[in-house]
Amino acid sequence: MSRGKFIVFEGGEGSGKSVHIERLHFPLPDAVFTRYPGGVPVGEKIRAVVLSKEAEGMDTATELLLFLAARAQLIAEVIEPALAAGKTVICDRFELSTMVYQVYGRQKPEYQELLAAVSKTINKGCAPDATIFLDVTPAIGLTRARSRPEGPNRFDNEELAFHERVREGYRKHIGEYPHAFVVDADKPLEEVWQNVQKAVQSVL
Ligand code: TMP
Repeated sequence: MSRGKFIVFEGGEGSGKSVHIERLHFPLPDAVFTRYPGGVPVGEKIRAVVLSKEAEGMDTATELLLFLAARAQLIAEVIEPALAAGKTVICDRFELSTMVYQVYGRQKPEYQELLAAVSKTINKGCAPDATIFLDVTPAIGLTRARSRPEGPNRFDNEELAFHERVREGYRKHIGEYPHAFVVDADKPLEEVWQNVQKAVQSVL
């Protein structure tokens, strides 16, 4: 049996990832949909911790290690078995998020080496076949994100400069991924959706 395709969505706050991923459930009923951090019980618990307001001021190394722990569990429990079983996996964020938030956002270039070494082990060879980067202007995305019904999370509340650095990181590294699609997410939702569909269809 051939391995399934692994499609990753990336983007800053308010880029609309979750809306488009939700819409893909209809055309892709057999795909496995998951998210990082989260997707499995242990990962959802870690997600609740890292996004909580109580974690304000968390040490940046602790934050990095929690994200990596969440990813290790998600890959072991969901992503690797699904790909091995030939299923398409759609994941809301993957390793590029950790690079752009914990290295660029947190301004910790020294984490890059550790991140690469740990990722090599925990990713178990799971690398995205396609990465769809929804590129939103941070000021626009933050306005959308901060008006979410569930309220802003710890990252939504970071200063604009943090989100500018995250975007810079995305723009710098997205080209390193095979089949990387950069979609202008400042555009109206339906236009973005057309481009997302085209990107997904071109890979599957
Ligand atoms: P979201 O996926 O619902 O946007 O929320 C996850 C938040 O966690 C988002 O602000 C980005 C942040 N994050 C990191 O800082 N590092 C990571 O490795 C991942 C996956 C997410």
